[in-house]
Amino acid sequence: MTAPAGSATADVAVVGTGLIGLAAAVALAERGLDVLLVGQPRPGESSPAGAGMLAPSLEDTNPGASADPVHQFAVASLARYPGYLQSLTDRSGVPVPLNRRGILRVALHASEADTLRQLQGANAHWLDAPDVLAIEPGLAPVAGAMFYPTGGAVDNLALLEALAAAIARSPRIRWIRTDVRAIAVNGSGATCATSNGGTPVRSAHVVLAAGAWVNGIAGLPRLLPIEPYRGQMFSVAATGAAVLRHVVYGPDAYLVPRGDRVLVGATMERAGFDADTTDEALASIRSGAAAFWPVVSTATTTAKWAGLRPVTPDLLPILGRDPDHPSLIYACGHSRNGILMAPLTGDCVVALVTGDAPPADLSAFGVARFSRDT
Ligand code: GLY
Repeated sequence: MTAPAGSATADVAVVGTGLIGLAAAVALAERGLDVLLVGQPRPGESSPAGAGMLAPSLEDTNPGASADPVHQFAVASLARYPGYLQSLTDRSGVPVPLNRRGILRVALHASEADTLRQLQGANAHWLDAPDVLAIEPGLAPVAGAMFYPTGGAVDNLALLEALAAAIARSPRIRWIRTDVRAIAVNGSGATCATSNGGTPVRSAHVVLAAGAWVNGIAGLPRLLPIEPYRGQMFSVAATGAAVLRHVVYGPDAYLVPRGDRVLVGATMERAGFDADTTDEALASIRSGAAAFWPVVSTATTTAKWAGLRPVTPDLLPILGRDPDHPSLIYACGHSRNGILMAPLTGDCVVALVTGDAPPADLSAFGVARFSRDT
């Protein structure tokens, strides 16, 4: 179905303009579908606030289980990243830095080292303290680190910019910069009513990617168990002794090098939709980071911010069709892993819309898992 000029109809409406919504819109358009993308930036949205860490073996919910479909989804999405960024840059003209140097998960004490060593596997190997310092000389003399050679970080701000540029160049995507107030789904598709009182958006499918704000949309067939969890961060200038090459993950803080600065994060707090930072939380992250990167204790803060992660009770996304309304497709609740999972989520959304076999096992991500009797 091709949208007639001036009308608000399309094959697919994508609701939400964070990373998941933008990635889904681009993937759908690539597949030849006409897309209406509806949404606008919100203070505290998680996509620009994240540090861009790509850490399937640290941040998924079952890190030791390499055969677990959830872990495999995260690993497969990470594997897509280099090609995904290359093709996005080709289409958008925007380069997106990707750090593929690996991640150091540091153990501060011998007991932590013993625990971490048990995670050794195909994607992780142990480094004793001298080897850790050889590759990151600015770290404190820690008890050692598990090294994840395939992990790293993407510059998520550049990624958002590249997606927006690709969307601006795509003849198949129209971006309506307002919020969706209500969605009505029926047998033949969906209608989204917008907050600006503009023409309702009609489509055969609607993809719900509205992050922590999703439950503010009226008319959804079910309440989604998605809550905002605030992550506070700050950055310091990467100069002198404060230069870092690898993502470093510690028990109470993590560090992500990005260009001329190092990002330091992050809290995991229930604070409603309050996206402010607090001095106490930033001091606590700084002290957690200083335990393995001493220079941060005196480094000047160059920026501070917070984002609201869309978090589900099991920290897994909701990705799949609504069981009662197949025209409604969920792509939300990515919790701590939205940036990592975005490329594969986009491809899965395409398959859910077209009816093709999804490129990954989605059985753990169905919305019905929250309504089953236990
Ligand atoms: N994935 C890192 C975070 O959510 O803080």
